[in-house]
Amino acid sequence: VLDPFVGVGTTCLACRELGIDSVGVDISPLFALIARVKTRDHDPGELSRTRDEMFSVRFEKPDITGISPFTRRLFSRYVLEDIVFFRERIMEIEDDASREFFLLALMNASVKTSYIYRDGAVVKVRKKAHHPPSLRKMFRRVVNRMLGDLKKAEIKPSRASIYVGDARQLDFLEDSSFDAVITSPPYLNKIEYTRVYEPEYELFLPGAKVDAIRSYLGLAPKTEGYEVYQDLALPPVAISYFQDLRRALTETRRLLKVDGKVAMVVGGGVFPDRVIDVDLPLAQIAEEVGFEVKRIVAVNRRVATTRRVIKIGESRESLLIAEKR
Ligand SMILES: C[S@@+](CC[C@H](N)C(=O)[O-])C[C@H]1O[C@@H](n2cnc3c(N)ncnc32)[C@H](O)[C@@H]1O
Repeated sequence: VLDPFVGVGTTCLACRELGIDSVGVDISPLFALIARVKTRDHDPGELSRTRDEMFSVRFEKPDITGISPFTRRLFSRYVLEDIVFFRERIMEIEDDASREFFLLALMNASVKTSYIYRDGAVVKVRKKAHHPPSLRKMFRRVVNRMLGDLKKAEIKPSRASIYVGDARQLDFLEDSSFDAVITSPPYLNKIEYTRVYEPEYELFLPGAKVDAIRSYLGLAPKTEGYEVYQDLALPPVAISYFQDLRRALTETRRLLKVDGKVAMVVGGGVFPDRVIDVDLPLAQIAEEVGFEVKRIVAVNRRVATTRRVIKIGESRESLLIAEKR
């Protein structure tokens, strides 16, 4: 199974529970890290030993002067010092799987002990009157919870490989190598700005190159020479969104074996004056690039309003099922 928009790895984790080999790709190094940690084989005994060792190291005040003023405003000084202290301990762990396990735990604990408050596409700073809990305690709690989850997980023999990549061009994957593609691409007009995760990138993924603003689906309106759906008079962002979906579907088709199946969850795009359906145009694109559409299942409907009261239409989430011709 391939999920070319794997996000935090739900598809690949479900595959591991079923004993199916899978590949997941995401353009975001942060999500790819989360997906890797969730789908890997871990050794809980080894992780517990590393945890005990890490928490027994005496605290020494780290140098936090290299941290940007923006990120500094998001934490109390004590929390930030603890984060940097533990981050240094984690970076000393040689085994990739353990290092990333603790890095994810620390990331999670850091957000919980910060002043961060995310409001859609922006990071806000909560009133300083809010007293965040201790990072050390929170970190230990998160690690223990993750270890508990690992012990409960029912994983069958299988492999999951997670890559950072672009679903529109997956050159590193071979033609006709997958039985199925199960995925959910970003939704139209629900743009995931990586700026929201800037503090995480700065503190935990310093080397990661994120050029998400242009690589995200639908974010580079290049509409000239595109004739499809002209009758719908689509806004440029929707045109480039469908263009990108076409590229992703074309790649998907190349990677599937003959008769291979694709299952894709998409949602309608809500614009100020109307709702733009995605499932029906997507079905048309799928047919155009060489799939036979088997079913479109509406899984969820919501009334879309503008200025909270005026009904402009109904936005639907749908599951599209198609087969490679
Ligand atoms: C709707 S989410 C998928 C959620 C996923 N099912 C999960 O369990 O987390 C869409 C994902 O697509 C990723 N994405 C956006 N543009 C991409 C691209 N061009 N190639 C690959 N992934 C992309 C986003 O980073 C996001 O994680």
